[in-house]
Amino acid sequence: MKKKQYVYPSMPEVLPECLKGKTTKDVHPRDAMKYFPKRRAWGDAWRYILLSLASEKLGCRTPEYLIDQVRSKILAYLNEVNKDDPQRLKRDLKGFENEVWPELSETMRGNYGMAQMVNDYAYRSRFLPRAILVGAQAVLLELFHSGRTKSVSGDFEYIPYDDAMIEMIVWEPISLVMYERNKFSQQHLLKAYQKFKADGSEGDLEVLFCGAGLLPQLRTNGFPAAQMSLKITAIDMDKRNLTNLKLVYDKDIEEYGVQYLFMDARDYCNDPKNANKYPFVEALGMLSYYRWGGQTEALLRDFLKAVAPGGRLSCDLQLMEPHLLRCAYSMGWKSNLFPDWCAWTAIRRMKKICRKLGVKMKYSRSEYLRHAAGINFVLYKPAMVSHRH
Ligand SMILES: C[S@@+](CC[C@H](N)C(=O)[O-])C[C@H]1O[C@@H](n2cnc3c(N)ncnc32)[C@H](O)[C@@H]1O
Repeated sequence: MKKKQYVYPSMPEVLPECLKGKTTKDVHPRDAMKYFPKRRAWGDAWRYILLSLASEKLGCRTPEYLIDQVRSKILAYLNEVNKDDPQRLKRDLKGFENEVWPELSETMRGNYGMAQMVNDYAYRSRFLPRAILVGAQAVLLELFHSGRTKSVSGDFEYIPYDDAMIEMIVWEPISLVMYERNKFSQQHLLKAYQKFKADGSEGDLEVLFCGAGLLPQLRTNGFPAAQMSLKITAIDMDKRNLTNLKLVYDKDIEEYGVQYLFMDARDYCNDPKNANKYPFVEALGMLSYYRWGGQTEALLRDFLKAVAPGGRLSCDLQLMEPHLLRCAYSMGWKSNLFPDWCAWTAIRRMKKICRKLGVKMKYSRSEYLRHAAGINFVLYKPAMVSHRH
């Protein structure tokens, strides 16, 4: 009897005509979403999470045959997908053998869920085998912003719609979170700018981006940054952004008038020189890394010091959901990211903090199939500086 082939439940077996041969450059992932079946909340995620936990907690090693099978499947896919492009095949194989496989095979040996995931579907990708190892770093997050990331060759590329990497962009609730929080923040930056102009202020609006990453907000969703008079300061602790910024911006970031500093944003905001300076401060994708022991409140207190009286701080909290857990356990994203349990607890926690800090707040939810996956907040610093800041 023929064994039933396991089919990854969410990928359409046949791509619709309009996506065939197309990449994320040709069709925006938001527009492509409707062609993919809706993803169930737990879907396949639980399976990989449980296997990864078994490895971590019980020391289950991945069987060696699975590692061999995964290697054969990836190589077969790379040969197949590059059959008309021998140069690209050469680059893919070189990158795979030298930079990806040594680490991937070792990591998979100690992570059964990861090996199972690659064996089930992630092998059908020129991107996932490398992306799995990168973690939630800005160069991977770029996938959600401009639809590009590094392939196995190490080249920075748009993702074809028939590559399994696409599943992260069109289904993962985190993709929606990234998109919506960015948009939410852009809208508030625009509002701050309109207010600045309406007040008859001269010169540039001073803007501060904390945990700036690769500064997606200045180049996504048609944001008119070039038409606005902004004086931008960006801060991030991760020095890898220095080289990765060159992947997404044509010129050095300073040539766009951005002062990019590599330091702890808390130190910057605590410097009395920067107090009450910025009508708009943004800290996206940061608060959930500072979850416990009053850290969120302390972080917000620091950021608010840099906000000008009457100015706003745009930030967000991520929520626990199965696919994020899968990224954490089976894609090696494990970090100090600790999302809130649900929308209700996140909003309640933020309300409490805002009351303590004496600021008003508004929020919106990033929802996927009526499950909130992230909450976007804007905090308004009172026009009169309160003694509490
Ligand atoms: C999840 S990424 C988000 C990047 C970008 N804001 C976005 O939305 O795509 C979080 C970034 O915050 C940076 N980060 C975390 N803590 C920081 C701190 N205390 N000071 C400066 N940067 C920090 C990390 O290096 C990382 O690049």
